[in-house]
Amino acid sequence: MMKTRTLATDAAGIAEAAALIADGQMVAVPTETVYGLAGDARDGTAVARIFEAKGRPSFNPLIVHVPDLETARRYAVWSDAAETVARAFWPGPLTLVLPLRAGCGLSPLVTAGQDSVALRVPAHAAAQALLRASGAPLAAPSANPSGRISPTRPEHVRAGLDGRIAAILDGGACGVGVESTILGLTDTPILLRPGGLPAEIIEEALGAPLPGYQPGSAITAPGQLASHYAPKATMRLGAEAPKPGEVLLGFGGTPGAALDLSLSGDLLEAAANLFDHLHRLDTGGATVIAVAPVPETGLGRAINDRLRRAAAPRQSVPPKT
Ligand code: TXA
Ligand code: MG
Repeated sequence: MMKTRTLATDAAGIAEAAALIADGQMVAVPTETVYGLAGDARDGTAVARIFEAKGRPSFNPLIVHVPDLETARRYAVWSDAAETVARAFWPGPLTLVLPLRAGCGLSPLVTAGQDSVALRVPAHAAAQALLRASGAPLAAPSANPSGRISPTRPEHVRAGLDGRIAAILDGGACGVGVESTILGLTDTPILLRPGGLPAEIIEEALGAPLPGYQPGSAITAPGQLASHYAPKATMRLGAEAPKPGEVLLGFGGTPGAALDLSLSGDLLEAAANLFDHLHRLDTGGATVIAVAPVPETGLGRAINDRLRRAAAPRQSVPPKT
C-alpha cells in the first residue's frame, strides 16, 4: 500500500501529477465525464499498473487521452468521418475508435493487442493541463475498482482506490457525470457506447443514422465484443518445456524459452510484455507458441485470461445492433 496524496489543480499540483506520470505512477484525474485513472500510454509497466490497481480480471483496451486533434493524428489512421466528428465535438465527451497507426509508440497493452485505438480529447481544464504538462498520451479508464460504478467526485476515487494509486487531482464534481460516448470508426460508423454526447447530435454531424444505439440499453464494454488478439500460430498453454517444432514463451526464467515474459517472475513486467512478445513470436514465424505456466494471482489472472482467449479457436462475435 502507498499513501494516496490529494493534489490541487493549481500549477504546483499539475506539475507534481506530471512528475508522477513521468515516473510511471498513476494519478486520478478529473475529466468532464468521470474521473480517469491515468498513466503514460507508451509505458507498458505503467499501463499494467492501471489494470492491477483496478483489479480487472481481463485486459480490456483503454481509452488514450490526448490534448488536441493534432496530437490524436499521431496515434490513429484518420478518415473523413473522424475528421468531421473530431472537429465538431473535441474537446468533449466523445471517444473515437480508429485504426491504430503502426509504430506510433503506444504500449500494445493499451489496445489489448488489437489494431484499433480509442482516442479522446477531454475538455476539463485539469485534464488538459495535465496532458500538456506531462506531454504524454494518457491511458485512463474510469478510476473505479473493476465492477464498481464510475467515480464523479474525488471522494469516490479515494473510497475505491485509496492506497493503490499515487495521487488524486481534486477537481471537484464532474460536470457530465456519465462516461464518454464511444463511436466506432474502423468501418461504417457505429455507436459502441451511449454516453455524455447524445447520439442524435453525432448523427446530425455525420448526416447518417448511427446503428448500435438502443434507448435505455446498459453501458456495455465494447472492447469485450471486438475480436480479441489471437496469433496466427497455434498456442499451447501451461508448457513446462518446448516440444519439437514449438517456440516457448517463458515466465520466471523458464529454460529453453525463446522469450521470457519476466525473467524475475514479476507479473507487472509480464503484463507489460505480453502482447509485444506474442506479436514478436508470431511474426517470427512460429507455428506453435508454447507458453509456460503463469500463476493465477493478481495480474496473473488477466494474463491467463488473455492467453486462454488467444489460444481458443477464433470465433467472430456479431456486433450488437
Ligand atoms: O468518459 C470516459 O470515457 C472515461 C474518462 C476517464 O475518459 N473513461 C472510461 O474508460 O470510461 P473505461 O475504460 O471505463 O471505458 C472504456 C471503454 C471500455 O468499455 C473499452 O472496452 C472500450 O472503451 N474501448 C477502449 N478501446 C477500445 C477499442 N480499441 N475498441 C473497442 N472498444 C474500446
Ligand atoms: Mg469504466
